[in-house]
Amino acid sequence: MVEKERTEVSEAEVAVHWGEEEYYYPPMEFIAQANFTDPTIFDRFSEEHFPECFKEFADMLDWYQYWHTTLDTSNPPFWKWFVGGKLNACYNCVDRHLEANRNKAAFIFVPEPEDEDHSVITYQELYVRVNEMAAVLQSLGLKTGDRVTIHMPMVVELPITMLACARLGIIHSVVFAGFSGQACADRIEDSGSHILVTIDAYYRSGKLLDHKVKADQAVQAAKEMGQEVEKVLVWRRYPGEYHSEAPMVEGRDVFVDDLLKAHRGARVEPVHMPAEAPLFLMYTSGTTGRPKGQQHSTGGYMAYVTWTSWAVQDIHPEDVYWCMADIGWITGHSYIVYGPLSLAATSVIYEGVPTYPDAGRPWRISEQLGVNIFHTSPTAIRMLRKADPDGPKNYPNVQFKHMTTVGEPIEPEVWRWYYHTVGKDKAVIVDTWWQTETGGFLCTTIPAIHAMKPGSAGPALPGIYATVLDDEGNEIPPGAGRAGNIVIRNPWPGITQGIWGNPERFIQTYYAKYNRDPNSKDWRDWPYFAGDAAVQAADGYFRILGRVDDVINVAGHRLGTKEIESAVLTVEEVAEAAVVPRADELKGTVPEVYASLKPGIEPSPEIEQKIVKAVETIISKIARPKNVYLVPDLPKTRSGKIMRRVLAAISNGKDPGDVTTLANPEIVKQIHEMVKARHQAEK
Ligand code: WT7
Repeated sequence: MVEKERTEVSEAEVAVHWGEEEYYYPPMEFIAQANFTDPTIFDRFSEEHFPECFKEFADMLDWYQYWHTTLDTSNPPFWKWFVGGKLNACYNCVDRHLEANRNKAAFIFVPEPEDEDHSVITYQELYVRVNEMAAVLQSLGLKTGDRVTIHMPMVVELPITMLACARLGIIHSVVFAGFSGQACADRIEDSGSHILVTIDAYYRSGKLLDHKVKADQAVQAAKEMGQEVEKVLVWRRYPGEYHSEAPMVEGRDVFVDDLLKAHRGARVEPVHMPAEAPLFLMYTSGTTGRPKGQQHSTGGYMAYVTWTSWAVQDIHPEDVYWCMADIGWITGHSYIVYGPLSLAATSVIYEGVPTYPDAGRPWRISEQLGVNIFHTSPTAIRMLRKADPDGPKNYPNVQFKHMTTVGEPIEPEVWRWYYHTVGKDKAVIVDTWWQTETGGFLCTTIPAIHAMKPGSAGPALPGIYATVLDDEGNEIPPGAGRAGNIVIRNPWPGITQGIWGNPERFIQTYYAKYNRDPNSKDWRDWPYFAGDAAVQAADGYFRILGRVDDVINVAGHRLGTKEIESAVLTVEEVAEAAVVPRADELKGTVPEVYASLKPGIEPSPEIEQKIVKAVETIISKIARPKNVYLVPDLPKTRSGKIMRRVLAAISNGKDPGDVTTLANPEIVKQIHEMVKARHQAEK
């Protein structure tokens, strides 16, 4: 595919022009208190000790039964970790902490309205509430292996529902609350859920949003796809009060606070789950329309997030840890809920947007709760920096020991602001590169062991054999100054077990590119293709450049261009559409839409608005296009393929290159003029 190769080449060109950044060293005070300071781990986790080395991770968990096989490779690339072992994720996150930490805060929930007090949920209280919710799920006839879709925002009832599922071995599928009813329906249908858990309303940017309406749309749309939702469980933001315009549907919808009354004080035994039983599904956008349900295991996943939370996040039970991500994404699953709770941490759940009512909010919350580990995305950092670059200086009691950035590449300039102004030169920073598929961090510095380098994630973690390959599969050596595809040569415990219901697509997406022999049972023949371009410096640090496929990373959220294009095509006036990423100061990249209209239809601002609306309602507001260009035709090759590369260059103010071989080269000039005019108007 010509288009793809061209994108990769341009990424590489960028890389060559980059200078090396200076190192920053972790402060002695940090090292003195760190969980993990032992550099010999890299020897213990060298290839000759693989896979047995990962016992060290699994030993951080409580097992009902020990495993007999550390890694089963009999059916590549469907790896099985800790086979024969039995455990329960909820037990590991809740029950096992009661003896020593019953009274300790598990979660602190911070509502968005600043005049509404935060609430503290101790481990004891979490235990009680999770048990009662598990009893509710059981009373509905749900059992081990069933799927439940949870479409909920950042409230503590979300992890309570997840943990209640985990207690019973029910596979949860959490859908980001910002997603539309339609997007939720796609995930309900794909996972085959009969139960949807939702909430009436939640706060976002100062408004109490009606969320239950999306449940009605989701159930309706799922039904049209042939998937019947039997029960909709509705939590209430304020128990006893209902804040939605959507009526409760008789026989289908029930308030969770009503159901819970019948189960007060209930205790439900955690089910002893096989290590390789799925714990949850997390959907991620791909290059084609349909989202992929990444299936994560109980034993391998829990072992991986527990160890990485301990060694990389440096979470101690006495820390106050705040990850500003949303639980509706993998970051929240691994590093708000499962990892931190497994370590008996105090994990902060903030309902709203970081800049509400102003950009000082994160610093006020951190002062008030004594947050000392802070975890967020480059987009949030850029937003806070732009809104009030000196803001953090007004909050002398914000004292972080540790900060994380995740989800997109961070510019060295922005990194330095985070380090100096937010961290006050005292906090270590980890830039953690990973994906929904990988369960947990893959490349990052270990904060008490490695120096930091702005803009680079860092070396691969112990037991992760990462490398950069060119398109032919040749290794690009560290320090070569050339970009390629970042690849993990081996399986690791946190890796996805596959795509729900679609094993073929799993192999195609992640393994087909570099697999050496489809019949091989040797893991060495199955390098994992992550879909990111990267350069590896001479010191082994990886600098991630971005996606090589048709995926747009908006503010750390992965969106498929094809998905957005299909949404655009639902507008009846549209004949053809192409969506491309445009670099954005705050969000990293944002989608731009190019659409041609059906014969006889004139472009108009109304049609542009219809397209924006379609994207927002079918996918989410996060996918909102920055611009919609209604063009006479899209640039195409002689065989009729839309040249997204040409459009992407134009959107980003770059030279579209040689277009003379196109079927319609004259159109490029017209589009170019149109876009230039719009860019002028933006200024
Ligand atoms: C994609 C994964 C990681 C969990 C949250 C997003 C990009 C992720 C970094 C980083 C540069 C990064 C990659 C990756 N990405 N972390 N530290 N530096 N890029 O999970 O939605 O599955 O997205 O996010 O492109 O493939 P996701």
